[in-house]
Amino acid sequence: MRMRENERRPSTICVQGTEEQRPGPAVMPIVQTSTFVFESQKHMLESVQGKSGGHVYTRWSNPTTKHVEGKISALEGTEDTNVVASGMAAISSAVFGMVKGGEKILSTDSIYGGTLHLFKEVLPQNGIEVDFVDIAEFPDAISEGRGKYRLCFFETPTNPTLKVVDIERVAEAARSAGTTSMIDNTFASPINQKPHLLGIDLVMNSATKYLGGHSDLIAGTVSGSAVTMGRVREAAKLLGGTMDPFASFLLDRGLKTLAIRVERHNSNAMFLAQELSKDSRIRAVHYPGLPSHEHHAVARKQMNGFGGMLSIDLDSDLKGAETFVDSLRIFLNAVSLGGVESLASIPSLTTHYGFDESTLREMGISASAVRLSVGIEDPADLLADLKQALDSLR
Ligand SMILES: Cc1ncc(COP(=O)(O)O)c(C=O)c1O
Repeated sequence: MRMRENERRPSTICVQGTEEQRPGPAVMPIVQTSTFVFESQKHMLESVQGKSGGHVYTRWSNPTTKHVEGKISALEGTEDTNVVASGMAAISSAVFGMVKGGEKILSTDSIYGGTLHLFKEVLPQNGIEVDFVDIAEFPDAISEGRGKYRLCFFETPTNPTLKVVDIERVAEAARSAGTTSMIDNTFASPINQKPHLLGIDLVMNSATKYLGGHSDLIAGTVSGSAVTMGRVREAAKLLGGTMDPFASFLLDRGLKTLAIRVERHNSNAMFLAQELSKDSRIRAVHYPGLPSHEHHAVARKQMNGFGGMLSIDLDSDLKGAETFVDSLRIFLNAVSLGGVESLASIPSLTTHYGFDESTLREMGISASAVRLSVGIEDPADLLADLKQALDSLR
C-alpha cells in the first residue's frame, strides 16, 4: 500500500514528490509550451477563473513547474509554493505582493548583497522604506516596531557570516506585532531547517543553490499559506520572472538527490570547520555546528544539520585572502554556493562588493574573510587543498 502524503519523509518527497503513482512517464516531462489549447471558450474561462486547475499560459502556471512546486511545499511544510526564475525574483515578487508604497519593511543587516541592494536602492525608489537592524536585535526590534512594519525579513544562517537567530522568537514577535515574517532559507535548505513549521509566514530559497544543487540553473521559490501565496503569485505573474519549464525539469532532477547531498554537505563542512579551527593561520572559523559558535545552542534547537557553508577569517589581509583563493586547486574560484562542487569566494570582492568598509564591518565581514561552499567531494581532498593554499601565505 502507498503511504499517505503526510507520512512521506524528506528523502522520499525529494525523489517521488507527494503524488500517487499512476501509469505514464516515470519522470515528469518537460512541458515546453507557452500556451495551452482548450476545447471550448467555456473550459478556457473556467481555467482563467482558476476553477478547473487547468493551465492557460506558462507565465501563469505550467505542469512541469507545478510538479516541482508540490515537492517544495511538501519539504517546507507549506500549503503552496511559487517557483520563479531566480532567488531575486522570489524576493521581489514576495515583497511587491505583500508591501505597498508608503509601507515599511524591517530587515536585518546581515543579508545577501543583492537583497541589500534591492532593499536600499530599488524599494525606496518605489516608496517602500526599509529599516535595518543587527540580527541580534531583530526579534526585539519587531516587537518595538508594532504597527510600523508590513513585513520583516531575515536570513539564518546569514550570508556570509553564518550568524543564527532564533526563528521561533522572530515568528512570535511578528505574530504579536501583526507583521508578516519572511525568511531567506537558502543557506539551510528545507532539509536542514523548516521555518514555516516554526511559525514563519513566508519562506524563500534561491533554488539556484542547494535545491538545484549542480550549479547549472537559476531559480527561486516562495512558500507559504494559500492565502498569502495568492498575493505573491499575483505579483509574480505580473512582474514576469517566470520559470522556464526546462529549468523546472533540471530543478526537479536536482531535487531528487537534495536530502542525500545535504547530508554530505553537512558532514564535509563539519569536518573542515573542526580541522580548520586547529590551524593557527586562521583567526576565526564561522560555522554554526561548532560548539564555540556564539549561536550554537540556537542552531542545534532549530536545525537538523548545520549546512555546507562556512567562512574563515585568515590571519592576514585582503591580499592574503586573494593569494589563498588563487592557490586553491579543488575549491573553484567562483561565486554562488550549494552545488556539488566546492567553491571559494571573497565576500568583499564578490557578493558584498561595493559596500564601504564601515558597512562591511557592521555586517561582521573582515577584509581577510573567505567564504567556502563545501561540496560533496572527498573531505580529505578538500582539507588537503585548503592546507596547501594556506601554505602559500608564508
Ligand atoms: C542567501 C541568498 N539569497 C538570495 C540569493 C539570490 O538568488 P539568485 O541568484 O538565484 O537570484 C542569493 C544568491 O547568491 C543568496 O546567496
